[in-house]
Amino acid sequence: MLYIGQQPKERTIEDYARYVNPGRVAVYRAMGINFVPGRREGVWLWDVGSGHRVLNCRTSGGVFNLGHRPPRVVEAVKQALDELDVGDHMLMSEMRAVLGLRLAELTPGDIQYTTLSPGGAEAIDVAIKLARGYTRRPKVISVRKGYHGHTGFALAAGEDVFRAHFGPMPPGFLKVPFGDADALEEAVDEETAAVIIETIPATAGILIPPDDYYPRVREICDRAGAVLILDEVQAGLGRTGRMWAIEEWDVVPDVLVIGKGLSGGVYPMSATCHRPHLDRFFQENPFVHLSSFGGAALGCVAALAMLDQITEPGFLEHVRAMGERFAQGFADLKTRYPIVAGVRQRGLMIGFDLVDDRLGPLMSIALFQNGVLAVFADYRPSTLQILPPLIIQPDEVDFVLSALDRSLTLLSRMDLESLPELPLPISS
Ligand SMILES: Cc1ncc(COP(=O)(O)O)c(C=O)c1O
Repeated sequence: MLYIGQQPKERTIEDYARYVNPGRVAVYRAMGINFVPGRREGVWLWDVGSGHRVLNCRTSGGVFNLGHRPPRVVEAVKQALDELDVGDHMLMSEMRAVLGLRLAELTPGDIQYTTLSPGGAEAIDVAIKLARGYTRRPKVISVRKGYHGHTGFALAAGEDVFRAHFGPMPPGFLKVPFGDADALEEAVDEETAAVIIETIPATAGILIPPDDYYPRVREICDRAGAVLILDEVQAGLGRTGRMWAIEEWDVVPDVLVIGKGLSGGVYPMSATCHRPHLDRFFQENPFVHLSSFGGAALGCVAALAMLDQITEPGFLEHVRAMGERFAQGFADLKTRYPIVAGVRQRGLMIGFDLVDDRLGPLMSIALFQNGVLAVFADYRPSTLQILPPLIIQPDEVDFVLSALDRSLTLLSRMDLESLPELPLPISS
């Protein structure tokens, strides 16, 4: 290997602490996790030093939807490297045109235009810029415990905990509880540029709204002339067993934001896709948003290969079948372990609830020892997020279920009162 394991693991950890981020190293040490990803293949990740192997049910929130280094995406990018580079973002681009068309075909309703960015947060910023630019209104309403990333507008739309250190945020941002259409109705007025919501809020603990929520959100936005932005950075691209999570509620947003799994985990790429009427703003201001690496040609190639794979016949059926296999296993675990509070699940987007906030972090540690990487939800630490690669196979689902079983046995024996608190939040 040219890049993996070329120096002792301890040296990597020391240098990481010295030159990259000592604080994080301290937190991982405190948790007893000194994992440094080395080899990666399909659903598996290996520790670079010990060779300890974990099945990745974190998938970086969906980045590794197709597993690590999906062969078709890797092959497409390898071939593209013989002809392409990132491209010049100011000029027209063949690969961006091809990907734009593909996304117009796949996104809901009459969504037509795509702006590409290197990451999810930037794509959210684009969505909010578009909404404010189009409506010329100041207010942006998001939901409490939403997570949209760490850039300017995305941070302002997110939860206070990540904003606290950075002084005044841009004005005009306010929050209402998720799933409460009445509260939203009260907050939205003729000053509202946008309502922005993660279709299934992930960092909040994989929350599922009441059935009439999204139809009412759509009506509220329509009545006020506000732009409805749905963040499917985690929930989109097949994660829920549908191409888009919002299909369940038969609602078309004005702007759909996607990222994470879009380029198969081999090249950074995200997209802000919007309906035709909004494009008036970009047509009047064609150079108002720029990004040197947004829509890099190599990233477009990766995204196209990824989309080819998830649109193949049987792909979404497989996601639903694996989700069902998990659901049956969870039902069994819930009957056997009183510390399991319940499960919220759509396809392979799973919030596994425990009865106490301290149990989520402990569960992450116990699972890690049992060969599974899965992280608790930052804003609801009693919930373990289980987001396996969508290509997971039945025997691998059973592996995760049996690791959960063993971890629950261990946690059930613990005396909760004597457990320390962990420094949260640490993940996203
Ligand atoms: C729902 C959601 N939106 C936006 C983002 C930001 O994406 P990125 O980390 O690529 O900036 C994330 C990242 O975790 C996310 O989960």
